Amino acid sequence: MEINVIQGNATQHPTPGLVVNLFEGVTTPGGATGAVDTALGGLISRLIESGEISGSKGEIRVIHTGALTASADASPVSAERVIVAGLGPSGDFDYDTIRSVSASVARKLRSLKLPTAATIVHGAGIGGLDPADCAEAIAEGSLLGLYRFDRYKSSSDSNGSGDSDSTNGSLETLEILELEASKIADLESGVSRGRAYADAACMARDLVNEPPNVLTPSELASRAQDASSDSGLDFEVLEADACRALGMGSYLSVSAGSVEPPKFIHITYSGDSAAPKNNVWLIGKGITFDSGGLSLKPPGSMVTMKGDMGGGAAVIGAMQAIAALKPKINVHAVCAATENMPSGSATRPGDVVQAMNGKYIEVVNTDAEGRLTLADAVCYARDNGASRIVDIATLTGAVSIALGKGHIGGFSNNESLWKSVDDAAARQGEPVWRLPLSNTSKQLNRSEVADIKNSGGRLAGSITAAHFIHEFAEDTPWVHLDIAAINMSDSVSGVNVRGATGASARLLVRLVEDLAG
Ligand code: BES
Ligand code: MN
Ligand code: ZN
Repeated sequence: MEINVIQGNATQHPTPGLVVNLFEGVTTPGGATGAVDTALGGLISRLIESGEISGSKGEIRVIHTGALTASADASPVSAERVIVAGLGPSGDFDYDTIRSVSASVARKLRSLKLPTAATIVHGAGIGGLDPADCAEAIAEGSLLGLYRFDRYKSSSDSNGSGDSDSTNGSLETLEILELEASKIADLESGVSRGRAYADAACMARDLVNEPPNVLTPSELASRAQDASSDSGLDFEVLEADACRALGMGSYLSVSAGSVEPPKFIHITYSGDSAAPKNNVWLIGKGITFDSGGLSLKPPGSMVTMKGDMGGGAAVIGAMQAIAALKPKINVHAVCAATENMPSGSATRPGDVVQAMNGKYIEVVNTDAEGRLTLADAVCYARDNGASRIVDIATLTGAVSIALGKGHIGGFSNNESLWKSVDDAAARQGEPVWRLPLSNTSKQLNRSEVADIKNSGGRLAGSITAAHFIHEFAEDTPWVHLDIAAINMSDSVSGVNVRGATGASARLLVRLVEDLAG
């Protein structure tokens, strides 16, 4: 979809659909919505009074203006339809409201089969937010909300679901209306930033949505390589032999049961070559299919396990936006990609493996494989001069039990890096909730035969997993994000559609921009 910022007046701009907005509780709309209301002879106010329009968040009301009729010239507004989008209570209003409302509105416009529509800048007037940032949020939200993955659908509604995200329409152009010519350039730069953020998440979604027979570790590496060369990023893959030579026995133990070769992906963005220590390493879990290995998962738990490379997809997607936005910082993305499969050559429960830093690990459960891959990736980052590490992983089912779908589970050994992640997460509407690295839980990882075991059992499952990674991050400033609960969505809601959410890709881009200052 094209997004153009154009100089125009809400009442006089000819368009099939004009999007205006309303806060909950407002009885007489102001700003552009007010101007449209006045032009329509107070129609919006009357619909508010009668209760048909309330302004509640997510509410979308379509008013046909009569501009379609033969006497179109007589219509008081040039738009054929006015779409009133509810923004919810003004006290709760933020950039994420704009994203989420823009996403729902974009889907509505598509379902109305409108090829083009125009919107006022939500938030810039009555909301009191920065106009360019509002335009960014509108672009980001609209593009995220319109996302669909239909590569393997021969016809667009083959399951007959008739859902709004599987209808045929396609919104080709969205116009953002601004009265003052002097503000247009600013809004345009907001739109292109919003597009970079959305593209990062949509690339991550595409990778996660691909079936695991297509998206093998080799295919993941090849797509990451293509995207990186398009964006001018440095790209490297360490093959199994190179990983073995580096001593990555922990990572390689996960790939032992698969016929697919592991691919250790390393992408580099050099935004501050003069200061190599000004860096952050983003490490994403990259299990292209998690069967559990010999500790085999039950069938019901296996069906979504193509998504177990969601963290890796997020860091690969984020790097593309980082390359576009050019922050002054060095960023490394690592994804130790592999399948986790059972076979005669698979790692057995009870095996002891050695990580790159020499530590011995007793593998008591081959389904706790993510942390085994992350251990070596973290060692590799530290060996290569990492100043800060953020790892992102669909690591534990337990994080859904603890936090549900409202938050990413977070852990850290460093207050300052934690605060940066927390702020970036809140700004992007992908909030994190910090869980404790308590010493009591740490004891659960103690092994009788090795330095550590890879599962602490049922208690505090997300915390013991984080402790395990911490053992390899040691004193390097580090944040671990467990995105298992929000990596996939089973409903259409706000910026998310069914399937992959692209979780944390946008959070990472924001974090990198913030760290670059
Ligand atoms: N990939 C899973 C975690 C997961 C579960 C992600 C559900 C998304 C949805 C991970 O590798 C796993 O299997 N974790 C185990 C750990 C246990 C064996 C200690 C889990 O959470 O049950
Ligand atoms: Mn697993
Ligand atoms: Zn897994």
